[in-house]
Amino acid sequence: MQITDKKAWWKEAVIYQIYPRSFADSNGDGIGDIEGITQHLPYLEKLGIDVIWLSPVYRSPNDDNGYDISDYRDIMTDFGTMEDFDRMLAEAHRRNIKIVMDLVVNHTSDEHTWFVESRKSKDNPYRDYYIWKEPRDGKEPNNWESCFSGSAWQYDEATKMYYLHCFSKKQPDLNWENEKVRDEVFDMMTWWCEKGIDGFRMDVISMISKDQAFPDGVVRDGIYGDFGPYVCNGPRVHEFLQEMNRRVLSKYDLLTVGEAAGVTIDEAKKYANNEGTELGMVFHFEHTDTLEPSQKVVGKWTYQKPELANVRAILNKWQTQLEGQAWNSLYWDNHDQPRAVSRFGNDSPRCRVVSAKMLATCLHMMKGTPYIYQGEEIGMTNTRFSSLEDCRDIEEINAYNQYVVEHKMVPAGTMLRCFDAVARDNARTPMQWDGSVNAGFTTGTPWIPVNPNYTQINAEAALADPDSVFYYYQKLIALRHENPIIVYGVFEPLLMASDVIYAYARHLGNQVLTVACNWTDQEQPCTLFKEETGRELISNYKQHKPGLLQPYEARVILRDAD
Ligand code: NOJ
Repeated sequence: MQITDKKAWWKEAVIYQIYPRSFADSNGDGIGDIEGITQHLPYLEKLGIDVIWLSPVYRSPNDDNGYDISDYRDIMTDFGTMEDFDRMLAEAHRRNIKIVMDLVVNHTSDEHTWFVESRKSKDNPYRDYYIWKEPRDGKEPNNWESCFSGSAWQYDEATKMYYLHCFSKKQPDLNWENEKVRDEVFDMMTWWCEKGIDGFRMDVISMISKDQAFPDGVVRDGIYGDFGPYVCNGPRVHEFLQEMNRRVLSKYDLLTVGEAAGVTIDEAKKYANNEGTELGMVFHFEHTDTLEPSQKVVGKWTYQKPELANVRAILNKWQTQLEGQAWNSLYWDNHDQPRAVSRFGNDSPRCRVVSAKMLATCLHMMKGTPYIYQGEEIGMTNTRFSSLEDCRDIEEINAYNQYVVEHKMVPAGTMLRCFDAVARDNARTPMQWDGSVNAGFTTGTPWIPVNPNYTQINAEAALADPDSVFYYYQKLIALRHENPIIVYGVFEPLLMASDVIYAYARHLGNQVLTVACNWTDQEQPCTLFKEETGRELISNYKQHKPGLLQPYEARVILRDAD
């Protein structure tokens, strides 16, 4: 089997996501900043990553930590200045690290001048930049629920109309039907490309085209309706992205990845088609949401763990069905998800390191571009929420108020246990740099409490330990750079009858790569490596047991095809 995919630098790369607020604070105000990132570039260079995906650094009033942008051509005051940004970009490029920006254009902040103007009057030139509707029977225009609880419509006294906000009411949705909006967005993207950035991660890009009939959605939890079918993968989304591609993306050599809530395989084949008429790849969410509604407490909230068989069935489906047609992105966690080792692995002191390495192996050997979320490379874990006081995320705070306080559907303690398991703040506790106060993240008071386990789990300790999760990731990244089969090999699922082992092969030329990962804390029989032919590329165990995989053991063997 020869390489049939079109080669691209971003297919061969490993991406590292930085959530700037929580990465490194250089000036002691308790908030991470751009200079903090620049100071830690040598750490990322040592890890060996190729690209940084920077969560939003634009000017923002921070209702949703920067995903509410009030000026796309300026930097958030907390994070520094445009000069700081330019220096970071130059320093990163000097070290052969590319920078991909977060592009948040489904909505702006309500403090963006477009919206400030838009809400002034019905005939304001910016009125149609957003989605305004008359009340229906004196109430909201339809029953849609916002992703952050409550109605997706906000009444505005000035013109006695409602505007749509799929997220917080400070994040009004842009009206992509209006070609002036598209012109503004494409101009702004071009401005950043001319600055020399290397790509875009596009926030909820699958939601930019709404069904213009705005029908009611199905009511699931007895309160609001689901906008999914009328907002995700909407009628004109591919047309809009093709226009974006023609007018901006095709003029540069960029990495583009669309965050695509509600994306199906068929839709992904359009968004990330091999001809490159839209985006390079998409993020789907199927493997992060494998639980049945009966396993949820309410909405997305649960404390149950996913099962291997479900996670594997989903990832294998994406691996096999995109083959030759579209490119996968690979991730376990990001700033919206709990920590990988806590959700999919085992964060107990005995199993944390070995299971973090197993998960890394399992993901990085698949076909697609891998993403590492800050702290994943040292095996950072979920934190604990003892009260609402510990929460900073608007999603958690609003859900608590809706389900615990207002509708009394869930006891407070149960909600907090759900937060321990799946809250976004798990990913947003500060990066644990060392064992000093506040994990070396800040000399001030951190904007969100540091995970108390920083004295054991931190980058300094990882760098001093040759067997650490950090050096394991470093090796995985290097292997990808050295072995085209890891990038371009065709994926074949193995051992599908097992409930405990995730195994697969990759095929390229006359080579076969065999990967087997034990997802449990018990020894498991495994017949895959019986003959011990081939070369072991990586494993999280130094010694193996014939016919067995040890707890969370991962093995990767490269051999010539028979
Ligand atoms: C997806 C982002 O990843 C998330 O953090 C944000 O809250 C929403 N989009 C709204 O922008």
